[in-house]
Amino acid sequence: MESPFNSNALRGKVALLTGGGSGIGFEISTQFGKHGASVAIMGRRRNVLDGAVSALTALGIPAIGFEGDVRKLEDAKRVVESTVRHFGRLDILVNAAAGNFLAAAEDLSPNGFKTVMDIDTVGTFTMCHEALKYLKKDGPGKAVPNGGLILNISATLHYTAAWYQIHVSAAKAGVDALTRNLALEWGTDYDIRVNGIAPGPIGDTAGMSKLQPDEISNNTRESIPIYKLGEKWDIAMAAVYLASDAGNLFTFDEAMCLGKYINGSILPVDGGLWLSRPRY
Ligand code: HXC
Repeated sequence: MESPFNSNALRGKVALLTGGGSGIGFEISTQFGKHGASVAIMGRRRNVLDGAVSALTALGIPAIGFEGDVRKLEDAKRVVESTVRHFGRLDILVNAAAGNFLAAAEDLSPNGFKTVMDIDTVGTFTMCHEALKYLKKDGPGKAVPNGGLILNISATLHYTAAWYQIHVSAAKAGVDALTRNLALEWGTDYDIRVNGIAPGPIGDTAGMSKLQPDEISNNTRESIPIYKLGEKWDIAMAAVYLASDAGNLFTFDEAMCLGKYINGSILPVDGGLWLSRPRY
């Protein structure tokens, strides 16, 4: 699908994406690249990283992959520093790495709960913490008048409750709390915008195939107000919108620069699913 945004919307920016080699993260990597950004991706699996970097490079996108686990402070530090060493700066951090599985609370071990908290919530904080000095408007490599952007990918399941996902609900609620608190502190102190995207059920992702096998696709009309699954492209376009802080955002109107005043927002991109109720 063609992007509505100007292909220079992210020109000159350097983005680091955790979980950027597959699923929603990879689509964001691709669209950031197609809109002018250089892209570093961090992930645990070398083969996934290599495949993703090849695909991005084939599109003419400057890309590099760094192996690492967001649960390890030394990995976070090394990958952030390697990104800056390779591309000279860091403007955008996207926290898309996540762990998930279905487990009833009764059967979930405390370590299983902690594992998902460690990947999603603590991992997001760790990456933000390590990236901070580079995202500041006067940080190393920066010669621009504005600070950087952090984009945290969460979910909508914790707005209410979700069967067999107590660990993910807690973790994503924590991620949303990080988004708001960092937006307050780092927006005020360093001109860094911190926003979130909360995807609903997105087709062709690990989350969909692992978590909602046939239920969603069999019941779409009843459960999703706009009656269809989302696409990875929908999330990536929301990400480009939030990341764009320069002029010339839209191909059809050179004066628009919408994302630059958005800070501390968490944008649900779920077709309105989280609002749905049984019909009377
Ligand atoms: C119950 C489980 C389990 C399962 C792991 N555990 N899988 N418990 N059911 N299916 C428990 C283990 O028993 C162990 O606890 C603890 O979790 C750690 O397990 P490990 O296998 O050692 O962890 P690790 O190898 O680090 O694997 C991490 C993982 C894994 C999260 C468990 O599934 C993973 O990395 N998956 C790939 C990433 C992924 O799923 N991405 C999709 C995200 S989709 P004990 O007590 O035995 O030691 C997404 C969408 C969210 O996030 C929104 C949806 C609407």
